[in-house]
Amino acid sequence: FVSKQPILVTGGAGFIGSNFVLDWIRKESGPVVTLDKLTYAGNLGNLASLESEPRHTFIRGDIRDADLVASLLQRYTPRAVVHFAAESHVDRSITDPGEFVSTNVNGTLNLLQQSRTYWETLSGEEREAFRFLHVSTDEVYGTLGPNDPAFTEQTPYAPNSPYAASKAGSDHLVRAYHHTYGFPTLTTNCSNNYGPFQFPEKLIPLVLLKALDGEPLPVYGDGQNVRDWLYVLDHCEGIRTVLEKGKLGETYNIGGSNERKNIDVVTTICDILDELQPSASIGSRRKLITYVKDRPGHDRRYAIDATKIRREIGWTPKTSFEPGIRATVEWYLANLDWVKDVRSGAYMDWLELNYKER
Ligand code: NAD
Ligand code: DAU
Repeated sequence: FVSKQPILVTGGAGFIGSNFVLDWIRKESGPVVTLDKLTYAGNLGNLASLESEPRHTFIRGDIRDADLVASLLQRYTPRAVVHFAAESHVDRSITDPGEFVSTNVNGTLNLLQQSRTYWETLSGEEREAFRFLHVSTDEVYGTLGPNDPAFTEQTPYAPNSPYAASKAGSDHLVRAYHHTYGFPTLTTNCSNNYGPFQFPEKLIPLVLLKALDGEPLPVYGDGQNVRDWLYVLDHCEGIRTVLEKGKLGETYNIGGSNERKNIDVVTTICDILDELQPSASIGSRRKLITYVKDRPGHDRRYAIDATKIRREIGWTPKTSFEPGIRATVEWYLANLDWVKDVRSGAYMDWLELNYKER
């Protein structure tokens, strides 16, 4: 059961989900079924290299669709659900909080409910082996002062943005499903990811692509906010480790111990681009930095204490920030067709045209 049955990955056409699916197919022997609604953040082009991969199945659909989720579980009988699907961008949650509650809270509730119903039909080894892994964020813990200790799994929840509040709501539902029904859940709370296939609304790809074109680089507030950066493939490995070895009902913090001020992240990207892609007309990219109005309610600092996952199940990040950000810049420069499609919106036209023929 364990090795032959697929895992069901929600949100597998997004940034982290697509890295996870690609990495799973590279490293594991079992199949993957990807369920993704393909919102603006979902890009089937991220999974283009799997087009003729027999171990991968893509289903376009919404995690809030009870009939669809129930029928997928019955049809594919997965050994695990790995749940990435969410609205993920803090700024969008400030202008449109309703969609965040709908997808992140109601969507997770529906997925939990259908998965529990399916799990209750299993017996013996299959029931024992089943896992529901919920991918969440460090933003549920709120904000830290400069000298506060990093977030642990015991840090009280204090979400500050509608995004963080909706993720906190989903985390609580996962916890309640374990506590009330004995449903076999695992939760991971991770810090800021970066790497290939990240949609250019998030700081790193946004700054990278604007710097490439010589456009102003918007830095919110005073640029002194701190994030704890983790290379996306290290996150994927952390999730696989929790899936394999995590204790049921527990939560695991995942982080890179790479705290950086936003302004330092931006200058690092400018310097790498100046070296790899010098431009006489642009000159030094640092001069493109433009301080803009701050994000409302902007959390000052995040930092993850990843002691538990290291001590109990043996995961540590492999990639420190400088080589990771250099590899990321190189990936974007080597994948300008992907960038062009995303920036022009063509990735969505391509989807609409091609998906129906599948
Ligand atoms: P993303 O926005 O890049 O991708 C989200 C994916 O979910 C997209 O493919 C989208 O089409 C899909 N989706 C959205 N609503 C859906 C719905 N109703 N039904 C089915 N699919 C739907 O997000 P990401 O950055 O890859 O984040 C993935 C998960 O990891 C999220 O749950 C996020 O909260 C969490 N997380 C992200 C980070 C980060 O730094 N990006 C850090 C920690 C945790
Ligand atoms: O901490 C984990 C979280 O990291 C995830 O749960 C979220 O899904 C993910 O989007 C990310 O949230 P952030 O708000 O930290 O990421 P973002 O890339 O939007 O911003 C990073 C920092 O950079 C933040 O302090 C805001 C700042 N920023 C962002 C943008 C888009 C700017 O200064 N300028 C910008 O244009």
